[in-house]
Amino acid sequence: MKVGVIGNGGREHALCFSLKNSEKIKQIYCFPGNAGTNKIATNVDINLENFEKLKDFIIENKIDIVVVGPERPLVDGIVDYLEKFNIKVFGPNKIASQLEGSKIFTKKICDKYKIPTAKFGIFSDTNKTLLFLKSCNFPIVVKADGLAAGKGVYICENFIDASKAVEEIFNGKFGKAENVLIEEFLNGEEMSFFIISDGQSYKIFGTAQDHKRVSEGDKGKNTGGMGAYSPSRLESRELNQKIIEKIIEPTLAGLKDLNCEYKGFLYAGLMIVKGEPFLIEYNVRMGDPECQTLLPKLKTDFSIILKKCIEQKLSEINIEWYNDKSICIVLCSNGYPDAYKNNFELDLKKLDIKKNQFIFHAGTKTNNDKILSNGGRVLNVVSRSNSFKSARDSSLKLLNKINWEHGFYRKDIGYKVIKE
Ligand code: AMP
Ligand code: GLY
Repeated sequence: MKVGVIGNGGREHALCFSLKNSEKIKQIYCFPGNAGTNKIATNVDINLENFEKLKDFIIENKIDIVVVGPERPLVDGIVDYLEKFNIKVFGPNKIASQLEGSKIFTKKICDKYKIPTAKFGIFSDTNKTLLFLKSCNFPIVVKADGLAAGKGVYICENFIDASKAVEEIFNGKFGKAENVLIEEFLNGEEMSFFIISDGQSYKIFGTAQDHKRVSEGDKGKNTGGMGAYSPSRLESRELNQKIIEKIIEPTLAGLKDLNCEYKGFLYAGLMIVKGEPFLIEYNVRMGDPECQTLLPKLKTDFSIILKKCIEQKLSEINIEWYNDKSICIVLCSNGYPDAYKNNFELDLKKLDIKKNQFIFHAGTKTNNDKILSNGGRVLNVVSRSNSFKSARDSSLKLLNKINWEHGFYRKDIGYKVIKE
């Protein structure tokens, strides 16, 4: 089987790595990939906005299944486009991708199907929004509607901060904005919950927790994710059941009512408040870096899961996992998430990577024989172990050996699950 993976981050390297472990996979292509995927797949440098060129390459090279990693092409309808040419794609179509592409689309489904979520209002005009904000209790959450790459969400402690946020959103900081969303602040603990779905049936695909803030102690600016661990400390059979019944199934039913099957990974960002799950957001893909921390725990051959999803026979298999703990620490370029420089060399040749240690590249590229940095998040260092503490120690040891003077990383990933 030949598989194509679309994307160039740590998530996509982890996807390629899981596929590479399968005897059934003859060749992997990664569009456009990074220095890590370059070692195990054929990197193909095509602009992801150019669906036609992608389609031509996939057809010419007889690629059997295409996996779409990031949200942008999904929201832009890459699945609908490729399927028109009978290409088999693992990922949700354009309508289903609205679950991530439009927070308001999701809120409307929550409303209609009584899915627990923060109370909200949708406003299209600055004055009306400000008038409403005057009547609110703080803190409150102000959100831009569309894709904002992890930004576009403001937690506001007072009216002044909230009105600044509204102004920035309407002024187009995150792209043209017709609406803002004002949301009740939920005080609880976050959890990322994943399912995989073939359009007919679905299975739970693990839980994780990421650390979005740049500095230790979850302080400082928001980032794409500085690290993650799996499983979430909140995971339990009882909570899983509540999440499935109150959130996942009504959402899938809501999509069915729109004549839409959900195929692909679905990532529910939840707030657990006194044992009850509330939906904060959906992402229509695996999380990054959650994917990097989850996939090394997967025992079942990922290519079989993928093939079953494409055939809509996911219900025929069991998905098995290693029962240990996993931690991913992200090595970033100095300056991230603000301005940073690229093209610094990473020397990984002398690293002794042990069993249960994994390095997934993110912002890297190959130049002759060298690996150069090429992004804010550069490497993901993942370890699996029987405890979170030893998993983290193992990743920190590797990072210490990498000793990259042009970058930094958080040493406290997983602090809520590790007692020092
Ligand atoms: P989002 O991009 O929707 O995931 O929001 C980014 C982060 O803001 C989330 O990971 C939460 O930490 C926080 N957040 C978003 N909405 C709420 C809410 N209603 N209550 C509390 N925190 C929130
Ligand atoms: N780790 C957060 C995300 O992938 O959106």
